[in-house]
Amino acid sequence: MENTARKIGAYLDPLNLPDWRYYPEVGSTNDVALDWAQTGALDSSLVLSDSQTAGRGRKTRRWVTHPGVALAMSLILRPNKAEAAFIPRFTALAALGLVSALSRWDLKAQIKWPNDVLLNGKKVAGVLVEGDWQADRLSALIVGMGVNIAPEPVPPANQVRYPATTIETELGQSIDRWAILAEILHAIQYYRHTLTTADFLKAWNDNLAFRNQVVGFHFPDGQIKSAKVIKVQPDGRLALQLENGEPFMAVAGEIDWLGKEGGS
Ligand code: BTN
Repeated sequence: MENTARKIGAYLDPLNLPDWRYYPEVGSTNDVALDWAQTGALDSSLVLSDSQTAGRGRKTRRWVTHPGVALAMSLILRPNKAEAAFIPRFTALAALGLVSALSRWDLKAQIKWPNDVLLNGKKVAGVLVEGDWQADRLSALIVGMGVNIAPEPVPPANQVRYPATTIETELGQSIDRWAILAEILHAIQYYRHTLTTADFLKAWNDNLAFRNQVVGFHFPDGQIKSAKVIKVQPDGRLALQLENGEPFMAVAGEIDWLGKEGGS
């Protein structure tokens, strides 16, 4: 534990985070971060854990994090007034951080709207952003991200909604997860400066998976329809073109795995 913390510290020091905490095991780093946010954590404080026993994904899904083979991180951000008008962009902020970090290892990742990062078409990471609301004021955002690093955590394709992969699988060699973490955070710091601008939206769209491709889109009411992915809108909605040619702006929903037969 001490050695790990010292190693992480060596990577994190140049980033000047106000504070960070590393745990060998937690329920969910997002929950730990939320507690910390409510007791005064400063903007850009970071929670890391080697493993999670109750990691959470979107839509009440579980997110499994085994020791030694993944990154489980939650960044506590306190959006300023301008940023607070762009909340959906914070999910993309984390995703862009990872896309940029992976480019350092010559890996081309893509963002699957709204919250997944894909490597060679398979899910390598997921982002879960949660808010700490005090009355009707947003006090903090917890930007949680889970990244598959080494092969062990990836369940077989028939046990997941979307096929998964790991950085090491795609890279063909082992990688230091704390080095990746430092690159992610560095890129997040960079992109955060652009969050409210057209440049940010361009970066999101430039790295958007399935652009101009027809996909199966799961609508929140459970329907799956074929639709062409056009682009992300300034407010974070996904512009689709339905089969009948009509445009549709998706606020929620997700893209199905193209190789999957049927749906659900
Ligand atoms: C998803 O793909 O549905 C999002 C997964 C988000 C998982 C991360 S791991 C770190 C943080 N803590 C959690 O409990 N969830 C997020």
